[in-house]
Amino acid sequence: ELSPIDKAKFVAAKQAAEFVESGMRVGLGTGSTAAWLVRCLGEKVREDGLRFKGVPTSTRTAELARDVGLEVISLDEAKWLDMTIDGADEFDEDLNLIKGGGGALLQEKIVATASDQMIVIADAAKEVQALGAFPLPLEIIPFGWQTTQALIEEVLVSMDVMGRQTTLRMNGARPYITDEANHILDLHLSRIGNPRQLSMVLNQIPGVVENGLFIDICDKLVVGHSDGRVEVRD
Ligand code: A5P
Repeated sequence: ELSPIDKAKFVAAKQAAEFVESGMRVGLGTGSTAAWLVRCLGEKVREDGLRFKGVPTSTRTAELARDVGLEVISLDEAKWLDMTIDGADEFDEDLNLIKGGGGALLQEKIVATASDQMIVIADAAKEVQALGAFPLPLEIIPFGWQTTQALIEEVLVSMDVMGRQTTLRMNGARPYITDEANHILDLHLSRIGNPRQLSMVLNQIPGVVENGLFIDICDKLVVGHSDGRVEVRD
């Protein structure tokens, strides 16, 4: 029996799996909701004869995709994707997102941007009026990371954000390492007044590779509720 939150994630993923058609090239997101999607797609491959190529956004997703029998190719093999289906940590009414709670934001943003459509699957609890209650993940280069962190904190002071505390994401006693061998800095901002501007400013800082704000990238949102209802917004 699924918990209410898992039920909501599952129904959103199951509905989104219906968008995938044979012959497509599809970006496969990362996280617990995206994992449901990958399992649903595996079932459709085994039982309904669906044939498509998947481009995973993390080593975790690649492993799961192969385990459930999906055909996995790299982004460079695919070159361009028909769609990407991925989870999110927060979404607002303009379909802007915070992603990267699972640490895969860099590959996720590259893959989503290379897709005709990005479809986000999420449980209804992730909807917010303003992004930022969820800590904003930043992928940063390990070299000089403390200097980069200090610079980021300085920049935050001049921005329309409420918090400015940042923490290096850890994996036990060591810094968390992304698939691209970088670190993650989580920005505790509470509320982001101007996500578009913040995203641009953060990406100008040397040492910052990418941030978890997805602005104007998501085209369709599939929202799951724990009672099994699903709404599609675009
Ligand atoms: C992974 O890096 C994230 O962007 C995920 O998409 C996000 O954290 C959502 O994860 P869940 O589906 O587990 O909530």
